[in-house]
Amino acid sequence: MNFELTEEHLMIQQAARDFAQNELKPGVIERDEHQKFPAEQVKKMGELGFMGMMVSPEYGGGGMDTVSYVLAMEEISKVDASCSVAMSVNNSLVCWGLETYGTEEQKRKYLVPLAKGEIIGAFCLSEPEAGSDATSQHTTAIDHGDHYLLNGTKNWITNGSSASVYLVIAQTDVAKGHKGINAFIVEKGWPGFTIGPKENKMGIRGSDTHSLMFTDVKVPKENRIGEDGFGFKFAMKTLTGGRIGIAAQALGIASGAYELALQYSKERKAFGKTISEHQAIQFKLADMATAIEAARLMTLKSAWEKDNGLDYALTSSMAKLFASQAAMEITVEAVQVHGGYGYVKEFHVERLMRDAKITQIYEGTSEVQKIVISRSILGK
Ligand code: CAA
Repeated sequence: MNFELTEEHLMIQQAARDFAQNELKPGVIERDEHQKFPAEQVKKMGELGFMGMMVSPEYGGGGMDTVSYVLAMEEISKVDASCSVAMSVNNSLVCWGLETYGTEEQKRKYLVPLAKGEIIGAFCLSEPEAGSDATSQHTTAIDHGDHYLLNGTKNWITNGSSASVYLVIAQTDVAKGHKGINAFIVEKGWPGFTIGPKENKMGIRGSDTHSLMFTDVKVPKENRIGEDGFGFKFAMKTLTGGRIGIAAQALGIASGAYELALQYSKERKAFGKTISEHQAIQFKLADMATAIEAARLMTLKSAWEKDNGLDYALTSSMAKLFASQAAMEITVEAVQVHGGYGYVKEFHVERLMRDAKITQIYEGTSEVQKIVISRSILGK
């Protein structure tokens, strides 16, 4: 068993750390306050290769492994989870889904600019009445020979207005249940495709989350991904890898808050000594560091399994479940270590605590992860 990162891993980690500290930290509080999408920052992430990290160089990507992606996600999430969710959706869901299941033509047309970060993508599964129960798709795509007509509404779509390419899951044959679901590539600007207002969220406020409306949108047949009826499995397989990305995001939010609490505890004095010299604070820091170590090991193990062609469905759900819970608990404690300062927006821990919550909700709630885990351990 070798836990050592390679030289290349360490270089990628350092590059992401430098980028996050130098380019994302200035302005992150303001972007959160004004719900400003980090367009310039995401563009730079594309130029640096962070938007298509695992895509083969043949299709414009970095050709890196999932471990590298986790390391970069952690560093970027320590500072700006609104940037890292755009990165995560683009890498784990959109690029991975297209590279793994797209046709050569789809890859040339859509994957190449997505992997280079010239454009970004969105993944559209959730609906007003289909969140955890993802088979209950009400969006329909009716076969009209050379094209489908797409109708319906999607909810909570990350990169909702900033994306140019949308992977949309829709029901093509109600009678077939989840086997009558397909995934389609839809372009922004196609007639009948409208974008609702931006959601005013608790956290990841820079990220642009929108509802999307489709009214008789004509989708060419060549834009269907995979064989007829593959859409639900496409979504599940894609989300399985996506959960590694969100585990890494949760890990980053947790470790960002922990690092701030650690630093603050060594500076702040109370009762004649730094608060880090009080056992009440030392125990909090010890608990935080332990949970972060566990979350990091679980996330990297799942990434390593994916890189080695092993089944990672169980470990990605476990990593996401554990890391998101750790992120929530650690950010709350980090605010506590900061006392009153932790409760004001000038201090980053306040934002990290709000950002942490979404990691227990998107790409499958904690309850969904427990369904996946319990089915696996019970052999169902
Ligand atoms: N890989 C491959 N196939 C899978 C799979 C996986 N991981 N999980 C399920 N399937 C297959 C099953 O084998 C089954 O196929 P067969 O009938 O051929 O055997 C089919 O899919 C249906 O599976 P289930 O019966 O298990 O489906 P279910 O209705 O019981 O649902 C669930 C299971 C785990 C709860 C699933 O619905 C789920 O994951 N829900 C959560 C959806 C989700 O994560 N949404 C997030 C939205 S995207 C997002 O948040 C992105 C963002 O913007 C940040």
